[in-house]
Amino acid sequence: MSTIVLKGIDKYYGSNHVLKNLNLTIEDGEFMTLLGPSGCGKTTTLRVVSGLEKPQNGTLYMDGELMVNAKELYFAPPSKRMLNLVFQSYALWPHMTVFHNVAFGLSIKKVPKDEIKTRVENALSRMQILEYKDRYPSELSGGQQQRVAIARAIVSEPKVLLLDEPLSNLDAKLRIDMRSELKRLHEELGTTVIYVTHDQIEALTMSTKVAVFFEGELAQVDTPLNVYQNPADLRVADFIGNPSINFVQAKARLEGDLLHIESDVGSFAFDSDYFTENEFPKSGVFDCVLGIRPEQIYLRSNPWQDAKEAVVYASQPAGSETLVQIQMGGTRLLVKQVGVRNYHTNQSVYATILENMLTVYNKETGKLIKIAVDLDIEAVELEAQKASGTL
Ligand SMILES: Nc1ncnc2c1ncn2[C@@H]1O[C@H](COP(=O)(O)OP(=O)(O)O)[C@@H](O)[C@H]1O
Ligand SMILES: [Mg+2]
Repeated sequence: MSTIVLKGIDKYYGSNHVLKNLNLTIEDGEFMTLLGPSGCGKTTTLRVVSGLEKPQNGTLYMDGELMVNAKELYFAPPSKRMLNLVFQSYALWPHMTVFHNVAFGLSIKKVPKDEIKTRVENALSRMQILEYKDRYPSELSGGQQQRVAIARAIVSEPKVLLLDEPLSNLDAKLRIDMRSELKRLHEELGTTVIYVTHDQIEALTMSTKVAVFFEGELAQVDTPLNVYQNPADLRVADFIGNPSINFVQAKARLEGDLLHIESDVGSFAFDSDYFTENEFPKSGVFDCVLGIRPEQIYLRSNPWQDAKEAVVYASQPAGSETLVQIQMGGTRLLVKQVGVRNYHTNQSVYATILENMLTVYNKETGKLIKIAVDLDIEAVELEAQKASGTL
């Protein structure tokens, strides 16, 4: 059992207000990723949880036990918190081999020798560094050293594992392998993980929950799918997704139960099943922004049903996918198509937007007001194939 509850945490460095009234619950067994641009307070949050930093306000509970009560100046020492932390800048002991670096904590705890051997070798092979077990840190690359640091953290099977950008020094292929290893490890051990990264792909692929930070404030805490499909505000929408989401300026008006939208890319109407609890003007026309993911637009070369005409601005075929920029009235959209598609510059195309999947934001507040419905993925695929003419 390891539930971690942060309530009303404020952290200042001098006059720099780095964490602003942070409220976050990490359930037992969760893989929670703290995601956000550099400097937004992710590492500081980990340091507050681990006990390396004292916040000026707020409380921290682990398994219902009070660890921090800033008002009363109560801060449980890191050793009481049953966790293991791997920093972005890892420190291995230079005079010990890889094996002994990883085994050290277990030796201190007087774990039997043969059990140490099994556990250390298991951790090393997970991290694909077993063959280096007799080397010294100075004989390893940065990425290999980083993997030793992860092996050292997981070998003790801590209740809570805190990982601060642990894959940042690895090349692309190895990073994919390590993502799988960490994900499997989490599933097998049921350890609660708090993982810090600025890499949205890492966050989306490994986590059970993602907490998106901007400038010390939480913008959204949600499942990876929901963070992707229904970003809570324009900042999150812009940050998540590669290639980036398309933003389209539009006008909206509520009429009866229906939200009517007019834009360069089409007219739409949505009923209240799609609305969020966020406010928007209930009378008159107001400015909104549509969020349309590049893969939620389909192109055909010939007119088709209510597909809207557009002109190809540029096409970038890249083998597994083709990125196409199209111009629709005064709006340019990026479209992502699966596989190789050949369009030439200035060609007319016909675009279908999956309107159920588009999101709408109140321009004034930046908040989500219309959600994407979580369509049955096979139905979406079918619709997509029809729209793109491959069915
Ligand atoms: N020890 C420190 N002293 C003063 N300022 C710090 C310290 N650590 C971090 N900061 C500042 O706090 C902010 C958040 O930092 P950090 O939590 O490291 O961000 P992230 O990990 O999201 O990149 C930054 O503006 C950073 O400069
Ligand atoms: Mg950091």
